[in-house]
Amino acid sequence: MAAVIDTRVIQTAIGSFVIGTDRLRRVESAFIYDLEGGVSGDDQSSLKMLPAFIDLPTGREEGDALALDFGGTNVRARLYHLEKGIATILGEAARPLRETDRENNVCYDYTTAETKPEELFDFIAGIVGEAVGGNNRKSYSLGWTFSFPARQDRLDHAELIVWAKEIAVPGVEGQDVVRLLREALDRRDLKNITVKAVINDTIATLIAAAYSDDKVTAATIYGTGHNTGCREMYVGENRPAQLINLESGGFSKLMQTACDAEVDARSDRPGTQLLEKMVSGRYLGELFTNVVASAVRGDRDEVPADLEDRLSFTARDMSQLLSAETVPQQFNVLAEKLAPVMGDRFSLGRAEIAALKGLAEAISRRSARLVAATLSAIVKHNSKAGEIQPQTIAFDGSVYANMPGVAPAVRAALDELLGEDGKKIELRSLMEGSGFGAAIAAIM
Ligand code: GLC
Repeated sequence: MAAVIDTRVIQTAIGSFVIGTDRLRRVESAFIYDLEGGVSGDDQSSLKMLPAFIDLPTGREEGDALALDFGGTNVRARLYHLEKGIATILGEAARPLRETDRENNVCYDYTTAETKPEELFDFIAGIVGEAVGGNNRKSYSLGWTFSFPARQDRLDHAELIVWAKEIAVPGVEGQDVVRLLREALDRRDLKNITVKAVINDTIATLIAAAYSDDKVTAATIYGTGHNTGCREMYVGENRPAQLINLESGGFSKLMQTACDAEVDARSDRPGTQLLEKMVSGRYLGELFTNVVASAVRGDRDEVPADLEDRLSFTARDMSQLLSAETVPQQFNVLAEKLAPVMGDRFSLGRAEIAALKGLAEAISRRSARLVAATLSAIVKHNSKAGEIQPQTIAFDGSVYANMPGVAPAVRAALDELLGEDGKKIELRSLMEGSGFGAAIAAIM
């Protein structure tokens, strides 16, 4: 049977995803340029660099606090008890924003352009209520991790600038999300819950990591979305230092491949979040799908027009492919998506499997290298005044934690860019920091 996956298309794409040391250094320099621009308020910078109105914790914060984590796919509320550096969970509730049944029929979806803000916020408030077991008497302080770009002028006030990660609920951008949540809590008669802090997930992770490690300088979310937060370095007079959400997923001084341009064009908001669209879990699968679809199209006839939608490989599929050790296992991962779409024409031989695995490697490796370039830039920028100090960068997110080869590739690229100084940078994986950090913030 004729092969219908053109491996030459895949090889060309693989070549386009390679970023050598020189190009990586240019990315690093461009990122430093934007960091400097962001500090001086230059609007040419593609980094929003949003002040968080909170600094690092002391590690001695204690008490009970509610943490609400709302960041993309899941909403989770937890009631924490913090004592002597140890956190106990007293209550918890979580639900995805979108649920489908086994046949892929949508049961509910609070992410779409048809969703009303009240519906979304009532859903969230319901989960908060569940975490406290419906208790509307006892007072609770709530820390909220809101993982979207938001402009703040104080800790308990945050105006959503723009949705990210393909959430499209109208009527929320430009609004104070704390007010929207407050109103929803009131509708549920949860007046006993006070929103004390709203922070980005990078800031929450930074706070959670710093609670037990005083060398933490930055935290990176590397999962569905991508972003980094760090402690502000150049503080003006009469003003305390604070944490800064860089919104680095919006970094745009990058060279796009044809595939990046197509994925961007198909996204909800073309032209925005360009780094995020090259590195984060939400888009890695789309990059992969895009190349696979054009390789299948190589055979032209009888190719369904909606091929990309129907293939829809995810970052999870890529992780499975990369961790599958034998060719039959790799075949299974690929066949699950390809067979139904290609129908009678489906065939997948060793050469195609090897090419597709190489593609997943190339896309994930580029992702890791780009993320490393931004981190190296942050480290260099922050030590501009002198020597690079020993420090920890905390990581949270499924791509960093689960995609084979990604964490080692970040490490290697960081060492490539920092040389001997790379040894001073510890990379630390932190799971669930974003909820925990919000609880600490509420107590702070
Ligand atoms: C998106 C959001 C950002 C968040 C990141 C990780 O990039 O804009 O605020 O930190 O996703 O969740």
